[in-house]
Amino acid sequence: MIAMTGLSKTYQMGDETICAVDHIDFQVKAGEFVSIVGPSGSGKSTLMNIIGLLDMADSGTYLLAGKDVTQLSDNEQAKIRNEKIGFVFQSFNLLPKMNALENVMVPLLYKGMGEKDAKARALEFLEKMKLTDRYQHLSCQLSGGQQQRVAIARALACSPDIILADEPTGALDSKTGTEIMELLAMLNDRGQTILLITHDLKVATKAKRVVTIGDGKLMDTGDAR
Ligand SMILES: Nc1ncnc2c1ncn2[C@@H]1O[C@H](COP(=O)(O)OP(=O)(O)O)[C@@H](O)[C@H]1O
Ligand SMILES: [Mg+2]
Repeated sequence: MIAMTGLSKTYQMGDETICAVDHIDFQVKAGEFVSIVGPSGSGKSTLMNIIGLLDMADSGTYLLAGKDVTQLSDNEQAKIRNEKIGFVFQSFNLLPKMNALENVMVPLLYKGMGEKDAKARALEFLEKMKLTDRYQHLSCQLSGGQQQRVAIARALACSPDIILADEPTGALDSKTGTEIMELLAMLNDRGQTILLITHDLKVATKAKRVVTIGDGKLMDTGDAR
């Protein structure tokens, strides 16, 4: 699903060159649930943005679902991103003036699905997230855990090859965070490939494979648990 070799990205800050992602070799196979754990400043967001085609590496190779995505134009990147990747963020990133249903429908409509089909599909995924009774609520009228479930429904409705979750429990209390992690584990049991990024080792170890990042370097012990 993901195969990267020698991937690097540096930032120039005045005289200083920061190697935020330093020659990373990393693979995720279809059906895996992997977490990348590391402290603040270790390069997690930079790596996540590259994996999610929101940013480009300076060097190295990155194959996503067998396709070399290192040299694509912004438009081509956006197209592959919409087709293959579902994002789940710490801050949920829902559209505040839309209700839960509309939030899940937006990317489906954007993909060209008709209104009726998009609505049916959005309701199906909201039901899977046990939000049927909340679909008319605006995001601000939902709890953090409910908002994250809407965000997960939105990601899943687009049938992504992989879900990228960036600190998905970071804004939740520990009980709700645990519920969201159990939800991700259940989705993985049903075949969804998931890559999770976190600074929290307790959250990371809920995944089936944990790799650590420090100073832009990835240590993939390959331990499947
Ligand atoms: N746009 C940027 N310009 C300069 N330095 C950056 C930029 N983004 C990140 N960095 C630096 O790259 C390193 C990794 O950052 P980041 O990927 O955000 O780490 P994390 O998400 O693990 O906290 C840090 O040293 C950070 O200061
Ligand atoms: Mg970060």
